[in-house]
Amino acid sequence: MKETAVKKDTQDLLARYRKIRQHSETICRPLQTEDYVVQPIVDVSPPKWHLGHTTWFFETFILSPHFSGYKVFNTQYNFVFNSYYESVGARVVRTDRGNLSRPSVSDIYAYRAYVDQQMKDFLEKAVLSKQLYAVLELGLNHEQQHQELLLTDIKYILGHNPLFPAYSKQQKVVLSQEDKGYITLSEGIYEIGYNGTGFSFDNESGRHKKYLETFEIASSLVTNSEYLEFIKEGGYENFRYWHSEGWDWVKQQKAQAPLYWHLIEGSWKYYTFGGLTDIDPEQVVCHVNFYEASAFAAWKGMRLPLEEEWEAASGFFNWGERWEWTASAYLPYPRYTKEAGAIGEYNGKFMVNQMVLRGASIVTPKGHSRTSYRNFFHPRHQWQFSGIRLVR
Ligand SMILES: [Fe+2]
Repeated sequence: MKETAVKKDTQDLLARYRKIRQHSETICRPLQTEDYVVQPIVDVSPPKWHLGHTTWFFETFILSPHFSGYKVFNTQYNFVFNSYYESVGARVVRTDRGNLSRPSVSDIYAYRAYVDQQMKDFLEKAVLSKQLYAVLELGLNHEQQHQELLLTDIKYILGHNPLFPAYSKQQKVVLSQEDKGYITLSEGIYEIGYNGTGFSFDNESGRHKKYLETFEIASSLVTNSEYLEFIKEGGYENFRYWHSEGWDWVKQQKAQAPLYWHLIEGSWKYYTFGGLTDIDPEQVVCHVNFYEASAFAAWKGMRLPLEEEWEAASGFFNWGERWEWTASAYLPYPRYTKEAGAIGEYNGKFMVNQMVLRGASIVTPKGHSRTSYRNFFHPRHQWQFSGIRLVR
């Protein structure tokens, strides 16, 4: 297919590129060098790996194939910073990211500076085809996804250090929701999927119709005080509320509460970016996995929303504090097709054994999400900033 050249405002594009790239480094500014390196569990990547991997994305998918004469910064980095792209060759196994004492943190910052300079040179000269512009957009949105993962992983790293160091003394997010009860949506046919002209991920495309029964969805998210009640009433001790897999998880993990909660001398505390503190009962509950969200809903005699219910109702409530677990498996929409080449590995190959989360969280970069956005994680994952919205 003949590529269509699209107009671009180079300065605007470069400014956006710079701003997004800079934000990743701003997130890491409070870290000590040692914080950049550790990988306490497989799901958590070392911050320096995120910084290198997001840079590798621009080098691999834009500069190397499209900038004539481009010299890669270091030929070994493809092995180190390729995340999961089979088409792009062998890579360090995910569990070993924490073993990478080299490249050093300063090497990785030098890598970022080199690629940013090359991207500037490239964007000033190039006329981007529509396809290449789409890859650049994907690279920027990819970096924003990793900014959220950076904060998620930094919280895990510091929150699992026995000294509970604060990430930032300033950061105290106080958000509470006005409880406006339940919103009713009448039975009918609703359209679901991305319907705009801007950027969206391929998993949101394929707008389609869904028939929904009448349902009522909570206007606000479940709070810590409601969740504490679930714990106090034996929520983690009664198999009846749990899926079989969820109950296995409770027993194996000896789970008693959301991630970061600690029962200290009879009272619950939790780790926040500001350090260890008393649980704020007004705050919305965070760091629950799908099993916990489902069990809580079952205890309430309710359920989690389907992703199409969430999307249909999303104009009637505030969202953006927590990724909200849905009862929907992560599956392709009708007419979903994978892109050719490595970019086709971005989303589609993960459409198995994962549940969809909707909305955004307090650590999602501003403007990154939208009502058709489909986040997805395995049901066991607690480390995302995930919460619960009920349906009855
Ligand atoms: Fe990535």
